[in-house]
Amino acid sequence: MQVDLNNEFPHRHGLIYLNHAAVGVWPKRTADTIKAFAEENMRQGAADYPHWMGVERRLRKRLAWLVNAPSSDDIALLKNTSEGLSLIAAGISWQAGDRIVISNQEFPSNRIVWQSLAGQGGELVQADLSGPDPEAALLAACNARTRLLSISSVQYATGLRMDLERLGRHCAAHGILFCVDAIQSLGAVAFDAQACRADFVVADAHKWMLGPEGIAVFYATPQARDRLSLQQFGWHMVEQAGDFDQLEWQPASSARRFEPGSPNTLGIHALDASLSLFEQMGMAAVEQLVMQKAAWLITWIQSQPDLELVTAAEPARHAGIISFRCRDLDRAAHERLYRALMAAGVICACRGGAIRFSPHCYANLEPLPAAWQRVRESGGF
Ligand SMILES: Cc1ncc(COP(=O)(O)O)c(C=O)c1O
Repeated sequence: MQVDLNNEFPHRHGLIYLNHAAVGVWPKRTADTIKAFAEENMRQGAADYPHWMGVERRLRKRLAWLVNAPSSDDIALLKNTSEGLSLIAAGISWQAGDRIVISNQEFPSNRIVWQSLAGQGGELVQADLSGPDPEAALLAACNARTRLLSISSVQYATGLRMDLERLGRHCAAHGILFCVDAIQSLGAVAFDAQACRADFVVADAHKWMLGPEGIAVFYATPQARDRLSLQQFGWHMVEQAGDFDQLEWQPASSARRFEPGSPNTLGIHALDASLSLFEQMGMAAVEQLVMQKAAWLITWIQSQPDLELVTAAEPARHAGIISFRCRDLDRAAHERLYRALMAAGVICACRGGAIRFSPHCYANLEPLPAAWQRVRESGGF
């Protein structure tokens, strides 16, 4: 269905928002939903709580659709990606000599959590992704004692997009748990947890999913959730949630077992509204637009003699993150350039000593070259 993206993203005049790999923008429908939800809370509190529960059920269905989960029972609503990864790390009973494989390009959340296991049996190996075949490097790091491979679907700094199906095939064939940090994919490009045979998929809402901070999707297959001992307990994670007189309890068979207490209803309303936009557009259309923006940026960067692309140019090797360096500037100068871009209304990031642009489907890139020129000519780098 057609969506009027100009109406959904009525930017402040002059702002070029290229920062969905950090914190994204809400569509108008999400802002409207939250205004109405605030009004409802002020006027009548939770008088219509059953309706809120309906929104929560719909969000689980929408998230199941977005990751292509077989069932919304496979979806838990957590606070953030780090929480999901921590539940996995703490929930597995590690044995001495067990190996965990990640890459050397991971965002700290997908490294620190595994490093925290030192002394509990988990031996961490970080494969170098800089070679011509990054997946081969990850697979070569897996040995017979490997229990888990955890990888970002798209690397936060270089923008490198992984071949998840290839990794998942290897993990399935060798009994290795496959964990995907999908925060840089979900909402930007199509994702298929079943096709890539992921055991776990984790992602926060505030980047490409166009939602707020503080609400995240945690996908776990029924077999994978049974492999995790529970770390958090409360009324909400039991099978008979809401039956407060019941003294006997068992954990919910669904992924709700990872949600100990009251849900984040504010975040749930916001994310549900944001995902309705993807549902209306279809993820194929969203992906096509994101890839068009990325291709436009790549062509522009390649046409500038002083710029050097960090992100791989092949479409299969990137999603919405495009990072680049200026040949004549050192690391500190890139930080100054980034601050000058921000001051000029080009909202972006500096990661790994490079400028990182991450436009979503609605971005208008036409004014970018002129804004870039103005900032570069202003000097001081
Ligand atoms: C790959 C990746 N994982 C995780 C996060 C953030 O995790 P959290 O949702 O815990 O804030 C980021 C944020 O930039 C990221 O790029």
